[in-house]
Amino acid sequence: CCLSKAQAAQEVKDEDKLYRYKGVLYPRVPCPEENLKALESVEAREDDILLVAYPKCGFNWMVGVLRKIRAIETRSEPESRMSSLMEFLGPDMLQVLDRAPSPRLLGTHLHPDNIPASFYTKKTKMLVIFRNPKDTLVSFYHFSNNSLVLQSGLSWDTFFSQFLMGDVPWGSYFDHALAWEKRIDDASVMIVTYEELKQDLSEGVRQISSFLGFSLTDAQIQKISEDSTFKAMKESSAHSHGTLGSIFFRKGEVGDWRNHFTAEQSQEMDRAFSKQLAGTRLGARLHY
Ligand code: A3P
Repeated sequence: CCLSKAQAAQEVKDEDKLYRYKGVLYPRVPCPEENLKALESVEAREDDILLVAYPKCGFNWMVGVLRKIRAIETRSEPESRMSSLMEFLGPDMLQVLDRAPSPRLLGTHLHPDNIPASFYTKKTKMLVIFRNPKDTLVSFYHFSNNSLVLQSGLSWDTFFSQFLMGDVPWGSYFDHALAWEKRIDDASVMIVTYEELKQDLSEGVRQISSFLGFSLTDAQIQKISEDSTFKAMKESSAHSHGTLGSIFFRKGEVGDWRNHFTAEQSQEMDRAFSKQLAGTRLGARLHY
């Protein structure tokens, strides 16, 4: 269904693809306003696992890891198709989520303050993945240009300015980071960074599984890590993501921003970063 919707979106003019809801941009397809309104009534369960990521910070990477961890725990085959975001579930979102067996693995790109309150009151475990802003911007730019549902005709310079202003789908990177900084000590929140995972994926998998209350053996952790490298996930992406595989698994590196940013743009981002995130603990972990 999503592909035919996406094909329909191709006919839509670039500037009509996005709309604002409560001041933030979203893609009309596959995330119309009805979905965002329905999402506000989603009721969390205590044993849900909620994966949260600002766009292009490694959401699909973590879906892969979480599915493999959960499959071991529930002694089942990992589901091969990637789950999409809650905000992409159609008009029957609430019924679909109600019917889903526990433990549900749910995902969202929403700003933490827009996640329904029950996820906080029920102390649902939330895994948050963040990534340095320069590589996030580069990844977002390429994704947008290759996507039928986002603005694809923007120049690098225009996208750069829009990202810094927070005028991109799901809003400002800095707003999301600052809001997570406030929740960094919540026992039900675990924040991982793309850069830390690239450095030591098996340690990341070990910490994530123990945060979720699972005790995996060293061999299981090793196997999950080997199957979750960029290369492994890209190779299986035709199966997991269909024709979108090559768009979601582009380069998978830290530091690709050096191939895109001018010296001035790099300084501009550094200034924005210091102004908004200097002195924060999350900021200190988003090296680039
Ligand atoms: P690049 O565009 O820099 O390659 P999201 O899933 O949130 O949309 O994020 C997509 C980014 O995560 C892409 O970055 C993609 O290549 C990268 N990615 C996906 N799987 C990965 C993996 N297993 N290891 C490292 N990076 C991965």
